[in-house]
Amino acid sequence: MAIQRTFSIIKPDATRRNLTGAINAKIEAAGLRIVAQKRIHMTPAQAGQFYAVHKERPFYGELCEFMASAPVVVQVLEGENAIAKYREVMGATDPAAADAGTIRKEFALSKGENSVHGSDAPETAAEEIAYFFAGIELVG
Ligand code: CMP
Repeated sequence: MAIQRTFSIIKPDATRRNLTGAINAKIEAAGLRIVAQKRIHMTPAQAGQFYAVHKERPFYGELCEFMASAPVVVQVLEGENAIAKYREVMGATDPAAADAGTIRKEFALSKGENSVHGSDAPETAAEEIAYFFAGIELVG
């Protein structure tokens, strides 16, 4: 299986509750390497551009405000089949539907405040990584 990179965000509900380390422990226990990471505080406009694909959804405004409500940790994760593997580690979007042991089952508060984001495909992973990281920050 090929080595892939995926993009991750530890969201405001998780940074507020001091869960960055606990989430990173789950990521690393799954065999994914955190090859880049930084803590940033987005504006609603920056969050809106990141989530532009959801512009027409009823929750878009709420989502942008939430993502700008506190610092987040943006990350690049690397490993075999990293995109699908991280989606498994995160669990379903709605924590009520997430499998036991997943990040969202253990930590998420709701569908909106669901602790983490992960890319859904190789093309979106590349776009999302490039939105937050310069090539020089990706040292492997
Ligand atoms: P994420 O994986 O970051 O991608 C889009 C986000 O929209 C999703 O996680 C949720 O945080 C949010 N989202 C999805 N569905 C809803 C919903 N019904 N209400 C509020 N937020 C939602």
